[in-house]
Amino acid sequence: MKLGFFDSGIGGLSVLYCAMKMIPQAEFLYYADEENVPYGTKSKEEIIEYTDRAIRFLADKGAQAVVVACNTATSAAIKIMREKYDFPIIGMEPAVKKAIDLYGEHKVLTIATPITVVGQKMKGLIERVDKQHQVDLMPLPKLVTFAERCEYGEGAREYLRTEFASLDLSAYGSLVLGCTHFNLFKDVLRDIMPPGIHFVDGNEGTIKQLIRALTIKEGKEREQTTTYYFSGKEVTSPAELQRLAGYLERLAEMATIE
Ligand code: DGL
Repeated sequence: MKLGFFDSGIGGLSVLYCAMKMIPQAEFLYYADEENVPYGTKSKEEIIEYTDRAIRFLADKGAQAVVVACNTATSAAIKIMREKYDFPIIGMEPAVKKAIDLYGEHKVLTIATPITVVGQKMKGLIERVDKQHQVDLMPLPKLVTFAERCEYGEGAREYLRTEFASLDLSAYGSLVLGCTHFNLFKDVLRDIMPPGIHFVDGNEGTIKQLIRALTIKEGKEREQTTTYYFSGKEVTSPAELQRLAGYLERLAEMATIE
């Protein structure tokens, strides 16, 4: 079974990583729109166009379902894409409900891209689940670029410290990672945040939804292949494949941080 994954860049690898754990037998196709990343500062119209191009490409390659492994593209384009295509299209949504359900006795801090933060989808979600007005939203436009450059050091740390400086972090019980790129910074965030804060993301929930939407075999043997595409061109350069493998290794480390 061919399963398509799409993100503006390499952030969706955090969702692919989760799929690799949960779906033993699949041909994964991963489309990173490296020519246009980041999406978080683009217009809604541009994001709809890029998303449409990526989904059409993955469908032409034989994907039976596509995971839009990008909160920003989901927010801007998923409704239109579902009307247009007749195979399952699974989206991402910041896991605000999960954070409230699990750690609702404290405030919830949600970090995402600017497009996701101001989008209608987020507005609807907050209206639906944030009955006690305990969710704060914070856009972090620059973090995606740090991730694309594999920069997890002092620059990213300083950026996050500055952005969080105005907040009383001790008031929060959870931090929602509302952008798939942000999973790559769990160690940095762990250092900056008070120890009691729990990280919450929607990756597992998204893959569960994908499994429900399809008849996926429960096989025990692992038979997985992954083909990567950058904006529609297959990635064959050893250096680029190495960079992608590096992200998956880092995600394996980040998965151990709660
Ligand atoms: N990974 C995308 C998300 O989940 C990042 C979007 C961007 O490129 O700004 O929102």
